[in-house]
Amino acid sequence: HGVARFALSRARKQGDLQAQLFTDPAARADPFPIYARIRSRGPVVRGKFMATTASHAVADGALRSDAFGVVSDPEALPPLARWLMTRPNRTVGPVTPPSLLAVDPPDHTRYRKLVSKVFTARAMAALRPRVASLADELLDGLSGRSDIVGSYASLLPVTIIAEILGVPADMRSQFVAWGSTAAPVLDVGLSYREYRRVDRAIRELNGWMSGHFARLRRSPGDDLLSRLVQEEESLTETELLAIAGLLLAAGFETTVNLIGNGVSLLLAHPSQLALLLAEGGWDNAVEEILRYESPVQNTARRALRDTEVAGVPVRAGTFLSILIGGANRDPAVFADPERFDVRRANAREHLAFSSGVHYCLGASLARIEGEEALRRLFERYPDLTAAGRPRRRPTRTLRGFDELPVALHA
Ligand code: HEM
Repeated sequence: HGVARFALSRARKQGDLQAQLFTDPAARADPFPIYARIRSRGPVVRGKFMATTASHAVADGALRSDAFGVVSDPEALPPLARWLMTRPNRTVGPVTPPSLLAVDPPDHTRYRKLVSKVFTARAMAALRPRVASLADELLDGLSGRSDIVGSYASLLPVTIIAEILGVPADMRSQFVAWGSTAAPVLDVGLSYREYRRVDRAIRELNGWMSGHFARLRRSPGDDLLSRLVQEEESLTETELLAIAGLLLAAGFETTVNLIGNGVSLLLAHPSQLALLLAEGGWDNAVEEILRYESPVQNTARRALRDTEVAGVPVRAGTFLSILIGGANRDPAVFADPERFDVRRANAREHLAFSSGVHYCLGASLARIEGEEALRRLFERYPDLTAAGRPRRRPTRTLRGFDELPVALHA
């Protein structure tokens, strides 16, 4: 705690906005003023260890450019993260190779091809009735005062992704528990103790997953993991763990925040909610929620060679922190960006699902889940009100709520 306070006061004194983002508790609750200050300093702001952008043009350009790669080279990482990635017997996690998120083409292309067939927009659209009936089923179980995150927003996505992957839905509360313990893995600057907790949760999930693969080899089903285990004999156990763990975690850890942020925003903007209830347009509302309160606030890339992005020269080796949440409030793209407007015509230009080759594989599914979950909740309970203080997630990369108490008035 003392170290964090020291780091924050030094960051403030030096005007180091990037360090403030990582250390200031106020910035976790509301990072948007810092994003705006970073943007006002220029499209790419160079710091001691890394460069940062809150510009939509630079973020989109870097994410799409093959002159940038994911930051998986241990030499590019801070010492603790480097040690964790290179020690013998390291944990296979969602952000370390061979996870899709942590490899560049051509490896990335090969892994992505294996799973992308299952996540096409058409295949996901066929799941909409199941998402809708599950939302209704979960709502049937609610009454009076509820924590809408614990009893609804977190259960819908984890159940759906469990069904797609073919992992037992009765494990869902265990998956949610592992997921929330491991979620800080996406954040920079964890303490050694935090890393140990994250590491333990990922190891437990991997242990369970290996047992599950063994069961599927003996008696396969008609699900994605059974097919991968059976048909892709060239995949090693490590590769299988990386693919399965990422799909599972990405499948629910992010969408829960989309739904929770949506509930919170619509309760705070009753006239916008009234407009949706009267005239529809939930699909565009979901895009605006994704833009305004992006569930994944940042990512990073490293320049593989000297290059230029949106007219800004970038030297080989530069580590670029990409503030997705900042790019999504860039006034160069979004007029009056601090205004939440479910009718915003270009809301869909947000980068909440990233851009380029790592563009979110589950975007269509997340959109369907967000839309069905919010529409069904508010159509059934149009007089829903907040009923207590919400509790924010302690993470910086993932933005959402751990707890959102509401009162349901039927
Ligand atoms: C990648 C956001 C839901 C699976 C990503 C990335 C972002 C993102 C920002 C790319 C990160 C980067 O470029 O560094 C979100 C948000 C979601 C969501 C905001 C919900 C609102 C889902 C769901 C799945 C999923 C439901 C289910 C399968 C993935 C996978 C990748 C990914 C597998 C890695 C893709 C690759 O590297 O090629 N997501 N995601 N996501 N997402 Fe999502």
